[in-house]
Amino acid sequence: MEPNLGVNLAGLELHNPFVLASGIWGSAAETLIRAGQAGAGAVTSKSCSVVPRRGHPNPAVLPWRGGLINAVGLANPGAAEERLILRDTQRGLRPLGVPLIASIFGGTPDEYARAAELVAQAEPDIIEVNISCPNVQNEFGVPFALDPGAAAQVTAAVRAVYSGRLFIKLSPNTPAITAVARAAAQAGADGFTAVNTLGPGMLIDTHARMPILSNRIGGISGPALLPIALRCVYEITQALSLPVIGTGGIASGEAALQMVMAGATALGVGSALAGEGTAVFQRLSAELRTLMAAEGIAALSEVRGCAHG
Ligand SMILES: Cc1cc2nc3c(=O)[nH]c(=O)nc-3n(C[C@H](O)[C@H](O)[C@H](O)COP(=O)(O)O)c2cc1C
Repeated sequence: MEPNLGVNLAGLELHNPFVLASGIWGSAAETLIRAGQAGAGAVTSKSCSVVPRRGHPNPAVLPWRGGLINAVGLANPGAAEERLILRDTQRGLRPLGVPLIASIFGGTPDEYARAAELVAQAEPDIIEVNISCPNVQNEFGVPFALDPGAAAQVTAAVRAVYSGRLFIKLSPNTPAITAVARAAAQAGADGFTAVNTLGPGMLIDTHARMPILSNRIGGISGPALLPIALRCVYEITQALSLPVIGTGGIASGEAALQMVMAGATALGVGSALAGEGTAVFQRLSAELRTLMAAEGIAALSEVRGCAHG
């Protein structure tokens, strides 16, 4: 029998576990819908804030050894405009049975709550709260995801205005990811996306003798992040029984199965799209199916978290 790739994410049925990660594939409705048409199990929009942002000047994204380093700087049209984009996106994704995850961020708990109120009007299936972007520290200071108390404050502020599914996007850049997750869970989170980019890091142009990114520093994603993301998901799911979208370096069926065995329910795909485009979703599903068949796994729920022993 064909292995079944379907997963249940916080009550949502996904055709397969692969979720377009936030910020990777444009922010227009057409491109987000195309990811769904191409075989993504769910689609996450680019993070938006109450106030529109231009983001950092180019160069803002660089390829790095199979992955990326980026300092896009959360460029977005503002949550009021994003709400309209999300409405159109939802209209295109619903008939496909592909859930929409709307990502928000802010500079204060109140800004997060206001962004949540706006995007909620588009009726996304999940709101994902990005408290973990590492490349806007100059403006916003240390990310909320590095401090359990701050993470709880943001979660509580959004929970107070939004009763739907609420996921918190965590950072790998903390020695205490479980404490942060636990604090967010107590404040009302229904699940987590783990993780955002690592760092910040830097690449230097040896001819110009200066950092290449205009922002000098940026978040690292792709294959280098996989072992760290696996450990983060493993720790979170060992401590808490909430669903996690395991994200970071998923570029093969084998990486995907490792992430499920670490405890993830769904799998975020970001940097792997950069070279390959949306064809990545069909490839990952095919590879995962082949691997499951070889391992005698009929459904992902059979092996979710099995690495915990
Ligand atoms: C160019 C770029 C832009 C990103 N923008 C966002 C964003 O707006 N919001 C967010 O939560 N994460 C953002 N991320 C992080 C990704 O969603 C993902 O968590 C990270 O890249 C790790 O997954 P990967 O190794 O599959 O790329 C961005 C990553 C990249 C490379």
